Amino acid sequence: MPLSVTVVGTGYVGLVTGVCLAHSGHQVTCVDIDQAKVDMLISGKSTIYEPGIEDLLIAGRDKGTLAFKTPESGWRDLIGDVTVVAVGTPMAPNGAADLSQVRTVVEALAAAADRPFTLVMKSTVPMGTGASLRERYLDQADVRIGYISNPEFLREGKALEDWFKTDRIVLGASDEADLVLMRELYDDIEAPLVETDVASAETIKYASNAFLSTKISFINEIANLCDCIGADIDSVSRGIGLDKRIGSQFLNAGIGYGGSCFPKDTRALDFIATLNGYQFTLLKSVIEVNNRQRLLPVVHVMRALPDLHERSVAILGLAFKPDTDDVRESPALDIVPLLAEQGAAIRIYDPIAADIAIPGAARVTDVWRALEGASAAVVVTDWVEFTELDWARVRSVMTGPGIIFDGRNCLDPEAVRSAGLTYMAVGREGQHRDDLA
Ligand SMILES: NC(=O)c1ccc[n+]([C@@H]2O[C@H](COP(=O)([O-])OP(=O)(O)OC[C@H]3O[C@@H](n4cnc5c(N)ncnc54)[C@H](O)[C@@H]3O)[C@@H](O)[C@H]2O)c1
Repeated sequence: MPLSVTVVGTGYVGLVTGVCLAHSGHQVTCVDIDQAKVDMLISGKSTIYEPGIEDLLIAGRDKGTLAFKTPESGWRDLIGDVTVVAVGTPMAPNGAADLSQVRTVVEALAAAADRPFTLVMKSTVPMGTGASLRERYLDQADVRIGYISNPEFLREGKALEDWFKTDRIVLGASDEADLVLMRELYDDIEAPLVETDVASAETIKYASNAFLSTKISFINEIANLCDCIGADIDSVSRGIGLDKRIGSQFLNAGIGYGGSCFPKDTRALDFIATLNGYQFTLLKSVIEVNNRQRLLPVVHVMRALPDLHERSVAILGLAFKPDTDDVRESPALDIVPLLAEQGAAIRIYDPIAADIAIPGAARVTDVWRALEGASAAVVVTDWVEFTELDWARVRSVMTGPGIIFDGRNCLDPEAVRSAGLTYMAVGREGQHRDDLA
């Protein structure tokens, strides 16, 4: 049976949630405080780059199952039987999750509610948040407000596929009535349901992201070791990943993880552990390895080109991964200022990434403009456009040694080398040693 659903926050998670639930036949209202965003969505334009999302958005809007609003006229009439919170939980300066957006919304919903509803927390919130929101706001409301922790696991760039073919749906609840409603909400999705208590559901989200981050930092450590001993990380990753107990995903070595989730969620989990008197040593190392890994291109470009004054460097890719415009915590944000500080003129090219200003760098709209006259190029994002570059042409437009630092191990080393360029990567056939000898 179609449910009346409200999704608060139409960012990467909220918008995907809204359009997908509308596609499943529910009556959905997406609410955001950003008027410009809401106007754009009403006009049928997606505010995020996500393959396939615009078609679903327009279909839902035209069928009348998907509406976009601001909370300007108050929350009371916006509350649905199921009200999903999907606002941001960015990293606070001390590494903790900043819950101010979540608290503002939950407080407003609890104060405005004049009929019972179920609040579904999709924002990633630390363990214990559900209990404290209930005590502070929900239990103070005039009506019953149920609470479900329903963490989201979608990957940007594959969000629709991840929504409809998810590996699992996690539901943390303390009341069977809320679970019944949630089973109805996800009726059409075939996936194992993990029904548990709220704190365990909150922990599943952080533990999942911490585990995936650990896999990435682990393979990066092995790749660095490969560089020291002259082994090849591609073969090593394949050899490890074919073991079903390990699995091949998240074993791509490179300049580390970025994005809006792994960096902040690992830091927040470390913060929670410390606050609870536990030193999460493994997680601290995962974070440290990642911080170091993203500086590899700077180290190697500077080693090869000790004086970067009067040289230019091309940064290929700004999004934290391909098929998204999201630049949050992209390694480029660390790499660019460091190279600029050394005197290099930086030109950044990314086909899709959001337009943000990075001090010391110019954004260009064509990959060839970025490469023109550059002494080095750093591949930050493994966009297909970069893997298919005409390397002979790249050689002809670049100057000096023509260093290509493949930060995602995504290029064909032979193709790059045979064009007369200097290829560097992370753990591939002892690249740095050979090229710098
Ligand atoms: N981005 C991902 O891939 C991803 C994946 C899984 C989980 N998450 C989690 O989901 C949550 C949302 O992430 P996101 O990337 O979609 O965030 P986002 O920053 O892209 O979007 C948040 C949206 O909430 C809106 N908002 C803020 N305060 C509001 C208010 N008071 N009322 C209405 N709208 C308000 C903002 O305007 C913004 O549009 C975070 O907790 C994140 O950790 C994100």
